[in-house]
Amino acid sequence: FGFASYYQNNMVLQRAPHKAFIWGYGKLGATVTVLISQDVYAATVRQGAGNKPVWSITLNGYATGGPYHIQAMQDDHGTISLAVISNVMFGDVWICGGQSNMKFTVAMAYNSSHEYALSSKYSNVRIMTIGDDRSSSPKHDFKVLEQSWSIPSKQSLGGNGAHWTYFSSLCWLYGRYLYDFLKVPIGLVSSNWGGTPIETWSSADALQECGLNTFYSVKIAIGENPLDKAQCLLQLADFKLEMRNRTLTKVPRSNSALWNAMIHPMLNMTIKGAIWYQGETNFDYHNAEYACLFPAMIKDWRRNWLEGTGGQTDKDFPFGFVQIGTVTESDRPNDGQYPVIRWRQTANYGYVPNDKMPNTFMAVAMDLTDSESPTGGIHPRDKQTVAERLLLGSMNVAYGRKDINPDGPLPTSAVGTVAGYVTLTYQEDQNLVVSEQHNFMVCCDNRCSMYDPTPSPFWSIAPILSHSSRHVILDARVCLETRHTAKFIRYAWALTPCEYKKCSVYNDREIPGPPFFLEII
Ligand SMILES: *[C@@H]1O[C@H](CO)[C@@H](O)[C@H](O)[C@H]1NC(C)=O
Ligand SMILES: *[C@@H]1O[C@H](CO)[C@@H](O)[C@H](O)[C@H]1NC(C)=O
Ligand SMILES: *[C@@H]1O[C@H](CO)[C@@H](O)[C@H](O)[C@H]1NC(C)=O
Repeated sequence: FGFASYYQNNMVLQRAPHKAFIWGYGKLGATVTVLISQDVYAATVRQGAGNKPVWSITLNGYATGGPYHIQAMQDDHGTISLAVISNVMFGDVWICGGQSNMKFTVAMAYNSSHEYALSSKYSNVRIMTIGDDRSSSPKHDFKVLEQSWSIPSKQSLGGNGAHWTYFSSLCWLYGRYLYDFLKVPIGLVSSNWGGTPIETWSSADALQECGLNTFYSVKIAIGENPLDKAQCLLQLADFKLEMRNRTLTKVPRSNSALWNAMIHPMLNMTIKGAIWYQGETNFDYHNAEYACLFPAMIKDWRRNWLEGTGGQTDKDFPFGFVQIGTVTESDRPNDGQYPVIRWRQTANYGYVPNDKMPNTFMAVAMDLTDSESPTGGIHPRDKQTVAERLLLGSMNVAYGRKDINPDGPLPTSAVGTVAGYVTLTYQEDQNLVVSEQHNFMVCCDNRCSMYDPTPSPFWSIAPILSHSSRHVILDARVCLETRHTAKFIRYAWALTPCEYKKCSVYNDREIPGPPFFLEII
């Protein structure tokens, strides 16, 4: 008899207006009584998933605060068992998912000693880390946790000093800043694995939506058209080989493996929202599909959390993410696919929220260049700025502060002239702060594509001629040399577009303009 693995001392449960969902194990048919403060709840132990007897309770909505002592008692024909969790707070619970830049620990980021020193002031920000695990079928609970629910301290934030353990730097900073803003308990759940593609974090349903459930589609095809059977069997053999290849590598690549083992078990825990830092691995793996895969995963997580918590997690819960950062050129070939992933992360809109990605927010990070990072330029150490930018999005999208605009400047139009100039007009409420960094490029004919690397024969630098608080005028006369006019423009379209915080366009709140790809009219 007891609670499921992640209902522990020191945890945060989701506060009102949401209702927390708690569950645990017991003897089939026994009655379970749960006491919180003056409230009494009752449940009966029933057959759960995988034939394990479980009980569950939807609590009333509890206002912000605590600490609470939650006592569960099982009565099995007069045999009484007890389980207690204490020092439980009601506040907002956030999941922090993704790959290495989310796993990247406080100890590895800038100013870790400052964070350790501050930690005692944040005893109501509680942290938990899910251990690396993979599974070919959905799991309902965790076997072990990498880190139990903890109160922040040098030890719980810094781990044993080893890299890539706990606690996630970005997750911590986001939670700490959120606490400064809200002054309510914050529960942070870090669940991420370095080097993993989005397919590992997506359910079969989400992958299916983007035509990526290969095994399934091959089976269907065989049934439908016998003439294609040989071809399909070949494909199937290939697919099996690929799957074998993938299970041989250390980093999981199998579809849904981490969704099954590291996300699915938490679907019964009511949450406020999620933040996400992933996409680097997909630069050369289903790059084009990412524009479908990412929104599909978000939608699927939302649907499943709604169902798993009996309607207690918002059906459009806020989902924030980091647009992937920079890479040292020597780490990666100068491949044009890398900047494209940043675009795919917005479902090809260039901004969020949008029709495909409602209730999302994004932190731009392509200007936080850190080529000296000891774990490689792909792991910038300034997670503070990323967290600040995420916080602004969270305030706006998750906490209703519509007066706070979290976004950097993005042009609404690009108009060319026969004389070879291009005028970019930005949104009204952005006061542009512009400097010349050669971040604007134009393409003079129709052969150029989003995937063209920088530099590319099709794309030329368009220097900034002048600028004002809403406009940037570019010199695109290079196109006149080939008797063309400028057709497309792209901004910050490179692995590493600029030095640290030195890209061309910011607003007066130091938020960078995101990369974009735009047709010139
Ligand atoms: C499996 O891995 C081998 C060796 O890396 C490679 O040559 C082969 O193309 C891979 N097969 C598939 C189907 O990915
Ligand atoms: C978790 O949620 C799923 C989906 O709603 C449900 O089938 C399952 O019974 C829940 N688990 C518990 C322990 O209530
Ligand atoms: C680290 O701390 C110093 C001193 O407080 C500060 O100037 C610097 O901006 C901090 N670094 C980051 C990335 O926040």
